[in-house]
Amino acid sequence: MLTIKDLTVTIKEEEKVILDDFSLTIKDGEVHAIMGPNGVGKTTLSKVIMRDKKYEVIKGELSFDGENLLDKKTDEVSRLGIYYLMQDPISIEGVTNSECIRTALNERMMEPVNLYTFIKEMNQNMEELKMDKKMMHRFVNQGFSGGEKKKNEVLQLKMLKPKFILLDELDSGLDVDSLKVVADNINQYRKENKDTSILIITHYSRILDLIKPDYVHQMVNGKIVKTGSLSFAKEIEKSGYFRLNEIGEEKDGE
Ligand SMILES: Nc1ncnc2c1ncn2[C@@H]1O[C@H](COP(=O)(O)OP(=O)(O)OP(=O)(O)O)[C@@H](O)[C@H]1O
Ligand SMILES: [Mg+2]
Repeated sequence: MLTIKDLTVTIKEEEKVILDDFSLTIKDGEVHAIMGPNGVGKTTLSKVIMRDKKYEVIKGELSFDGENLLDKKTDEVSRLGIYYLMQDPISIEGVTNSECIRTALNERMMEPVNLYTFIKEMNQNMEELKMDKKMMHRFVNQGFSGGEKKKNEVLQLKMLKPKFILLDELDSGLDVDSLKVVADNINQYRKENKDTSILIITHYSRILDLIKPDYVHQMVNGKIVKTGSLSFAKEIEKSGYFRLNEIGEEKDGE
């Protein structure tokens, strides 16, 4: 379970408050979605969970399975089983995909990963993701198209087998068919790992039709202002945040 309570975050070099008394609890096996206009702090939230030290936590609590994440480093958070699929995946020159994933797995295990099992799993996962096997030997995300990078992140996820998955705009850059392929893969992963929780950050309900959320939250100015179900995501998409707030005010002022 991920627990976030009254989390207030600024950027070290600036005075700006990005997360403002942000609270959210995600229990094992739940799928939550966060929608919100550009620049409200969705990616910042993900990076703070991953303990990016650029962001300074002024107050609040952040824990996963009872462990305080605020005193952890990024690799320790990853070892606890949290996987962050980045909005803009980075490329790593000189390190191949298979080297990167094998190193990550070796870091986690008590003994080195068996090479035969590793290659078998990589092949199977790449087939399931409809990825070109040659990508295994290319430098991580180097020269990959936008959609290929996102698929490659899902490959890493499938290999690393996390307990908590943060999907930061997985849907941006993926064509409709590829989005369906990765969503099918993630749904299959959930079926096999029922305790796994997912936080989906998105601007569009299409991904939520494929990976069904239990809750949809609307985020504004660094905090959640409203929570609903999948139909709320459709409402946001139809009306837009601005109009939605106006409708809310009209109702309040009746
Ligand atoms: N390292 C940084 N330096 C300066 N400003 C930053 C930094 N990181 C984030 N911000 C600012 O914090 C705010 C929140 O950014 P964030 O990336 O979390 O938004 P977001 O909700 O993910 O938006 P989007 O939907 O466009 O991805 C923005 O105004 C952004 O410019
Ligand atoms: Mg973002």
